[in-house]
Amino acid sequence: MSEMPSHHGQPDTNKTSFPNEIMRLLIERASCRSYQEKPIPPEVLNWVLDAGNHAATGGNLQPYSIIKIEKPATKQRLAEMCEQDFIAQAPVDLIFCIDSHRLERWAQIEVAPFSHQDSFPSFWIAFQDTIIAAQNICTAADAMGLGSVYIGTIMGFFLQLVELLSLPKGVCPVVLLSMGYPKGKMVPRRKLGIDVVVHEEHYHEFTDEELVDFYERKYPGQKIDITEERLEKIASVCRKVHGEEFAQQCLQKIKEYGYIRPVHRYFGMHYTADDMTQHNDEFVQALKEMGFGIFKNRELY
Ligand SMILES: Cc1cc2nc3c(=O)[nH]c(=O)nc-3n(C[C@H](O)[C@H](O)[C@H](O)COP(=O)(O)O)c2cc1C
Repeated sequence: MSEMPSHHGQPDTNKTSFPNEIMRLLIERASCRSYQEKPIPPEVLNWVLDAGNHAATGGNLQPYSIIKIEKPATKQRLAEMCEQDFIAQAPVDLIFCIDSHRLERWAQIEVAPFSHQDSFPSFWIAFQDTIIAAQNICTAADAMGLGSVYIGTIMGFFLQLVELLSLPKGVCPVVLLSMGYPKGKMVPRRKLGIDVVVHEEHYHEFTDEELVDFYERKYPGQKIDITEERLEKIASVCRKVHGEEFAQQCLQKIKEYGYIRPVHRYFGMHYTADDMTQHNDEFVQALKEMGFGIFKNRELY
């Protein structure tokens, strides 16, 4: 059996020239999951953090906090939690959090009205602000010769993180960014082209053939061998989400191809369609326990 191709996709070797170094940096960027033991000098890290801190933010409010983690024991806890070893190997892990708490204290101290933690629009903007700061930091890290990777799986451990990082009510972790000097050169991954993701003036619906072709270009010739175990996994996900008839149609389609396609792997084996909807209530409950009241009127659903 051939080795399973990475779900991160294929290397992108298309580009050879760039209008300037910033464009090269942005287009050649790639996630880094393997770090040298070399520490990040504080002045380098401060430049990187300062760059993120200058990101655009709704109303210039900066409703976020970044927990910087360098202690081996904490990094190890995070690595075990997320089951991703490189989190412990990275010299620095940053946890980006929405922070309504600091704003609330500001309002309380100065006796101003406040409802940030109970407002979905505020949460929505704060989420964007937090991610935009994170991405500026990510790019700044690249510019300083560092590498980084986002870790989204912290969303399964909100309440453990509250304890581990002493987060007060109103502070919600969003994403972790592991960072360090890369061990080797990172290989940029192939992306859907701008002909796919950019729509001129209005949303343009592609034909089925066009759409399949776009993904074929992104994952050229990517074939995953059929095994009984893999088929059973995909079938069981199909059954839970769409029922037995669909499961049979899906298996039939895979058998016609003679291999497992990237889309079946994504939603049937990796980010499985059944599991992805299982944790909505836990998520909402965790937000409540973290002091956010944005779903107070959930019966509206
Ligand atoms: C929100 C978010 C969460 C992610 N979570 C993880 C993760 O838990 N583990 C991981 O190895 N990579 C994670 N990644 C990195 C993606 O896998 C990576 O960006 C993607 O495969 C594309 O590769 P590239 O970044 O090299 O272009 C995450 C990226 C984002 C933006």
